[in-house]
Amino acid sequence: MSGIKYFPKNLDIKGKTILLRLDLNVPLKDKIIQDHTRIDQILPFIKELADKKSKLIILSHLGRPKGIKDSNLSLLPIYKYLKEKLTVNTYFFTGEINDELKSKCSYLNEGEIILIENIRFFKEETENDDNFSKKLGELAEIYINDAFSCSHRKQASIYNITKHIKNSFAGPLLQKEITAIDMVVKNKKDPVTCIIGGSKVSTKIGVISNLIKKSNNIIIVGAMANNFLAYKGFEIGKSLVEDNSGKIIEKIYQDAKNNNCKIIIPEDCLTSLSFEGEPQTKDKDSIKKDDIILDIGPKTVKLIKEIIDQSNTVMWNGPAGFFENKKFAIGTNAIAQKISENTTNKSLISVLGGGDTVSAINKSGYKLTFTHLSTAGGAFLEYLEGKDLPGLSVLK
Ligand code: 3PG
Repeated sequence: MSGIKYFPKNLDIKGKTILLRLDLNVPLKDKIIQDHTRIDQILPFIKELADKKSKLIILSHLGRPKGIKDSNLSLLPIYKYLKEKLTVNTYFFTGEINDELKSKCSYLNEGEIILIENIRFFKEETENDDNFSKKLGELAEIYINDAFSCSHRKQASIYNITKHIKNSFAGPLLQKEITAIDMVVKNKKDPVTCIIGGSKVSTKIGVISNLIKKSNNIIIVGAMANNFLAYKGFEIGKSLVEDNSGKIIEKIYQDAKNNNCKIIIPEDCLTSLSFEGEPQTKDKDSIKKDDIILDIGPKTVKLIKEIIDQSNTVMWNGPAGFFENKKFAIGTNAIAQKISENTTNKSLISVLGGGDTVSAINKSGYKLTFTHLSTAGGAFLEYLEGKDLPGLSVLK
C-alpha cells in the first residue's frame, strides 16, 4: 500500500518523547507467555529507539478485557520479559491515563522506557474516544504505529491518536509486513488455494467472500469447519459451533459457485470426549453426540496435501485443530510441513498469517520456510481482502 508515512530512519529523536503502539498481545497460560514471537520481533526496534536516546512510552493491548481491569490480562508478564531483554531502565505504569502519567512521562530520562498497562482496560480505547486519544496524544511528540496486526481496529491508540500527534508514522515492522504481503499478492500465480481456520465464520465472511473471487480453492479447517459440517447435516457432537451460521454458509457456497471456486471441508476428523482426551479418527458421518472435533483426520490431511501440490500460491490463516494439545496438532503440522516443503522445492508462493498460526508453527518445533509469515490475523485477512485498514489510512 503506497502513501503511508514511514518512520524516517534518519530522524533526530534524541530527547524526543515517542508513543509507540505495539502488538504485545501474546498467548498466555497462567500468566506465562506461550509464544514470544511478537515481542522478539519488535525488540530490535525498541532497542534502536532507546539507543538513539528517545524517551519511549509503549502502548499495547492484551486480549479483549472490554474496559475492565482483569489481572489475567495484565501486561505484567510481558513487562517482566521486556525488562529481562532490555538493558535500559524500563518502568511499568498501571494507573489512569491522566496528569499523573503525564508527569511520570515528563521525568523519563533519555533512553528510558515506560510500558503502560493494557490499554483496553480503558473502555475509551475500543470506543476510539477522542478525549482519551487527546490525553494519550499529550504524552508524546512523535507517534509510531508498529502494530500492523492491530491496524484494522478503529481504536483510540491506533486511529484517533493520530489527530493529536502531528508527527505520526508507521514503524519498520509494519512496513515489512505490508511490503511482503503486497509482493506476494502482486506475484501470486494460479492455482491459488486459501486455507482458512479459526472458529468464527461470521467474522471471516467478508474475507472468505472476497477470497472466493481470487482463489481456485478455499479449504475450511479448524473449528470453523464444524459449522460447514453441521450445515451439510452431519452430527458434530459437542464441538464448537457458531449459532445462526447457516445463512452465511449458504452465501459462501453461492459465491463459490458463481466464481468457480471449490470449497473443501474435512472428510474426517480427530475427535475426543474432552480437550485433554485421547484422539479417535472418525469419518464425518460417524461423529457421535458426545464427541468434540479437535483436528482434521488423515484422509483430510491427504486431500489438503494433494491440493497444495496442485497449487502455485497458498494463503493460510488459522490452525486446523486444537494445536495447544500436541495430539491435535497433527493436521496443522502436516499442512505447515507440506507448504514449507513446496515453498522450498517447487517455488510455491506461501503467505501465512495469524497469532495462532504462528504459535502453532513455533510449537511444532520444525524448521519451516514460507514466502511470508505474518503475525497478524484479522488485519492480515482484511488487508488481503483489499480493505483500507483504518490504522493505515490515518498514516497516509
Ligand atoms: C491480533 O491478535 O490479531 C491482534 O492483537 C488484534 O487483536 P484483536 O482482534 O483483539 O483486536
